[in-house]
Amino acid sequence: MKNFAGKIAFITGGASGAGLGQAKVFSKAGMKVAIADVRQDALDKAIGEISAYSGCKTSDVLALNFDLTDRAAYAAAADKVEATFGGPPHLLIQTAGVNSFGPIEASTFDDFDWVVGVCFNAVVNGLLIFVPRMIKAYANKTEFHVATTSSMGAFMAGSGTGPYSAAKSAVNNLMYSYAEALKPYGASATVLCPGNINSNIGNAEKYRPAHLKNTGYHVSEGTMKHLNSVHATGIDPVELGEILKEAIENERIIVLPDHNTGEQRAAQLRGLNEQIEAYCLTGEERAAKMAELMKNFRPMPAGDDQDAPPPMMWTVPEGAEAFGQGRKDIEWLADSKKAK
Ligand code: NAI
Repeated sequence: MKNFAGKIAFITGGASGAGLGQAKVFSKAGMKVAIADVRQDALDKAIGEISAYSGCKTSDVLALNFDLTDRAAYAAAADKVEATFGGPPHLLIQTAGVNSFGPIEASTFDDFDWVVGVCFNAVVNGLLIFVPRMIKAYANKTEFHVATTSSMGAFMAGSGTGPYSAAKSAVNNLMYSYAEALKPYGASATVLCPGNINSNIGNAEKYRPAHLKNTGYHVSEGTMKHLNSVHATGIDPVELGEILKEAIENERIIVLPDHNTGEQRAAQLRGLNEQIEAYCLTGEERAAKMAELMKNFRPMPAGDDQDAPPPMMWTVPEGAEAFGQGRKDIEWLADSKKAK
């Protein structure tokens, strides 16, 4: 998709962080933008920010407040977009996401239902609701495209990031399927896999729905402060939006924005593949291989400057508490994994 002006974008999570950056970028490219989010205060603020950034009329931004895991509400929002802007989106960008980290063996059904619900099930909802409408309206006549914001976590397993990594991995696979599936209709798909974004995701626990609050992880103001300190070192959302725009224009399927220059990207993918290959080795061989790989491991690379030291992900700032720990009251959980 190369021409954006006059077309319609639908961006989930568009009131904050990466989604807001994308809304600004595609609004500036001349698109009418619908932003979907679950926080009304953030939506209200975003409309002004988008129009100030792009110079568009506020009537060219449609704010929709609903929970993306609610299929009926999602379908109603799709109808509202068509009624307001005159058709389904040409560009669907599903960026809303939440995270919560802790020992996978301490995870509850609520942890999975919330994180997988928003990061994967809601993406399925968007694709099933919008793609048939997009095909009917635009196939082989007008450019259209679907994109999803996944994560570097899609390529890595972590004992403390289970539900999130599993959801993101599934999202990637789904988007590879759509990239193939949409070819006969003259469209394609892109999956954006950032490492770290300067966003508000560190506060996601604050709006975890009341019926999914039973977590196995230790969550507090302090753990959110730690997470926020990590995300403060991430890529700027507008810069990330520009990277996504270039990827859509050039039909890239996977985008690794922190490693987007040739050799860095290739080296990163080789490293990730080596980790997967190591799962095929014997236990002894794998221990040696993983030790070798860990020597070069960079937890959260910042920008394209690969010579810069990685941000200190595990440094807990003053007044914060380490995120990623299990609840203190789970008696069978290893002491080393419990909040102190
Ligand atoms: P953010 O918290 O700033 O924005 C996410 C938005 O999604 C929020 O405004 C939130 O209200 C909305 N949202 C959450 N649940 C929702 C629901 N059920 N229905 C409707 N809206 C909902 O976070 P950020 O970082 O901008 O996240 C965007 C995407 O980027 C997510 O998919 C996240 O997993 C991904 N990502 C983030 C990274 C980071 O370091 N922040 C790194 C890699 C990927």
